[in-house]
Amino acid sequence: MKGVILAGGKGSRLAPLTKIFNKHLLPVGPYPMIYWSLFKLKEAGIVDVMLISQEEQIPLFQKLLEDDRELGMNIVYQVQPEASGISDGLSYAKSFAQGEKFVLMLGDNVFEDSLRPFVDAFRQQESGAKVLLKEVADPKRFGIAEIDPAHHRILSIEEKPEHPTSSYCVTGIYFYDQDVFQYIEEISPSDRGELEITDVNNLYISNSQLTYDMLKGWWIDAGTHESLHEASTKMFETMKEKEGYE
Ligand code: G1P
Repeated sequence: MKGVILAGGKGSRLAPLTKIFNKHLLPVGPYPMIYWSLFKLKEAGIVDVMLISQEEQIPLFQKLLEDDRELGMNIVYQVQPEASGISDGLSYAKSFAQGEKFVLMLGDNVFEDSLRPFVDAFRQQESGAKVLLKEVADPKRFGIAEIDPAHHRILSIEEKPEHPTSSYCVTGIYFYDQDVFQYIEEISPSDRGELEITDVNNLYISNSQLTYDMLKGWWIDAGTHESLHEASTKMFETMKEKEGYE
């Protein structure tokens, strides 16, 4: 399976840190944020990766990750001309995916769980897509899933709901089959002017093709000042516990 990492966007909630730096190059623990997505993919056995960002940012990632073979990964770079949303960014990965299933990660999601069990489960899934959910304290910030736990089904997803129907956030870790590229063509820009991944996921739901699993460990969208700080703290704690990091 291949991996796609989205590392673009305006990073407006992290201004002024993001006035010059791309969000994904900011430090989380001892590494620039982007490394954590790469480590998670590698740990799950995914080494062929496309990294997507805006044109002026690509050379920075190329310089940072020039020793990708030392990481044991093959990284290719793709320009997303404008920061026009997750679905727009993903549309540029169509030829890279070569008709196969793949994992999509938002590069600002930092988390504890290994992806391996979810990758294995998605390999077994005949078709469709899978999302990973996590209970959050601030559901208005995210895509929120209404679920039917008895039948292990997602009923709908609402992007940044005014009145959240649950606290289950759809994290930025997604598994797709090739239908995703067709669905992206069917959606229109949202009120914030972006092609939303939530609209694509709702198309999978309407075709009964979206499964979910729950993350067990901590998960953070490091897109705000406080959550960026929290991601660093958690990462240091986890590294100390697991690796005796001093
Ligand atoms: C995006 C998605 C949202 C998801 C979140 C996870 O939000 O649109 O559904 O819950 O990532 O990090 P954004 O970061 O674009 O506000």
